[in-house]
Amino acid sequence: MDVTDKCAALRARKTEGPSIAALTAWDYPTARLLDESGVDLILVGDSLGMVVLGFPDTTYVTIEHMVHHIAAAARGCQKALLVGDLPIHSYDNDYATVKNACLLIEAGAEAVKLEGGVEQAGKVRALTEEGIPVIGHVGMLPQSVREEGGYLRKGRSAEELSILIEGASALEDAGCFAIVLESVVEQSARKITKQVTVPTIGIGCGTGNCDGEIAVTSDVIGSYPWFVPPFATSRADVAGEITKSVAAYVAACQKSKPS
Ligand code: KIV
Repeated sequence: MDVTDKCAALRARKTEGPSIAALTAWDYPTARLLDESGVDLILVGDSLGMVVLGFPDTTYVTIEHMVHHIAAAARGCQKALLVGDLPIHSYDNDYATVKNACLLIEAGAEAVKLEGGVEQAGKVRALTEEGIPVIGHVGMLPQSVREEGGYLRKGRSAEELSILIEGASALEDAGCFAIVLESVVEQSARKITKQVTVPTIGIGCGTGNCDGEIAVTSDVIGSYPWFVPPFATSRADVAGEITKSVAAYVAACQKSKPS
């Protein structure tokens, strides 16, 4: 399938189902394993700044980091739609947005994602006019963690909900083919999902309130034990397996010294 068909197929899942299954990847083996396991959408998210590069949050991620990791993930992705996150300050104006999105596309992304609501509609239009498919992202915005003073849940009041609905509708009107909802309270996530005609893909919004789910792969496989968001479900203990197998290797090395 080409990119247009992949985006149209994902869009159709809003009405036709099944629910979209999306995960993040940051390198060749992760992308290849996810792709071969049947994930619909692989996001090279800027969360790689935390779970791969060891920064305290995503505000340290640069366009160069994203290009490097997207190129690696693209080499492992055949069927899923590969989406690249525009990192903080790479989309401060329309010109920078298109220029930096083109760098992500040249690296192998098939679509890009940016954070924010109404204020980003013009940038989404600039991207779609260049033929670049875009995913929006509303709710808790990790790139705003410093201004917000933490990872705060959104949609907790009628006022917050109306800002989110306004943002999601503006992104849809501007041409986004899907919208990520992050850490939005369940009832509000459900209302936003009903309000827009493009699929919503939830993270930290409960189960069954969005048209799909996205998770950070290290949370799902348990490979980054130092910070796991409260809403995440770990389905494996990769960190524990690494620790055990490395300890066994160290013990075997220590025993193998010639006498
Ligand atoms: O960077 C990321 O991993 C993301 C997801 C949490 C949606 O944006």
